[in-house]
Amino acid sequence: MSTFQALISSWASELSIYEKQEAESLVSWLLEHHLGWRRTQILDEADDSSFPQQLFGDFERLKTGKPIQYIMGKGPFYGRDFFVSAATLIPRNETEELVHLIIKENPKAGLRILDIGTGTGCIPISLALEMNNPEVYALDISEEALKIAIQNAEALGAKVAFSTCDILKQTPDVSDLDILVSNPPYIPEREKTDMHRNVLDFEPGLALFVSNEDPLIFYRTIAKKGKHLLKSGGKLYFEINEKYGIQVAELMNELGYTEVKVLRDLNGKERMAFGRR
Ligand SMILES: C[S@@+](CC[C@H](N)C(=O)[O-])C[C@H]1O[C@@H](n2cnc3c(N)ncnc32)[C@H](O)[C@@H]1O
Repeated sequence: MSTFQALISSWASELSIYEKQEAESLVSWLLEHHLGWRRTQILDEADDSSFPQQLFGDFERLKTGKPIQYIMGKGPFYGRDFFVSAATLIPRNETEELVHLIIKENPKAGLRILDIGTGTGCIPISLALEMNNPEVYALDISEEALKIAIQNAEALGAKVAFSTCDILKQTPDVSDLDILVSNPPYIPEREKTDMHRNVLDFEPGLALFVSNEDPLIFYRTIAKKGKHLLKSGGKLYFEINEKYGIQVAELMNELGYTEVKVLRDLNGKERMAFGRR
């Protein structure tokens, strides 16, 4: 028998691949997931002999560096839980900021929106649920990711039309858009060496990497196609690699987008770009 806090500290000490504070928060997240305990709940007595076997199995997986969202099969995004799988990226905080910006800047009813490279569907589903009666479309090259996105839309009661499309080779079958949004793959292969194992070993390469020779391929292709997909005055929103703010803005300017700007996230990093057709 030990107190809840002592139990968390003791389990966290076995998660040596993480900093102490992060390890403790992962352990309490896992306990919450299996036992229904709230992270803030302090129990006088916690007896781990009564814990379900699966919790111990999941804890072993956590020790291998597997992200907790893949272990639990879900992760939070903009106030809701989204299913994730090996085929989808884990939704990130930066992307929540992009979603927040779009919601804030577009209060009008009935806007037509397309999300390119949708993964779990976290962007279009959040927009569908938070905006004023929009018409939302989303696509991805990965059929496996789309299965998860469809599951998420059903579970959360969001109306989104999903389709398969390779944006580098095909043109989506939607037009007259008010908003085009994308968080495409943007990490050059060469940056793999600086990345954490828990991203590299578990998150899908297809969602993350682009060639060293042409790291902006998705931005250029989407911005070019956006000229036909967006209606005049329509808005293009990108999540970007903090290293490429200037280049992304340049290519949007060259293509004739107006009001082009690069925006910083809460950590002060240039992580979003905007332009108007
Ligand atoms: C960085 S992830 C973003 C996922 C999700 N939108 C999010 O923000 O969490 C990029 C997504 O683009 C998809 N993708 C990669 N290549 C693509 C292509 N050629 N055409 C369409 N989607 C592609 C990947 O499958 C992945 O889901």
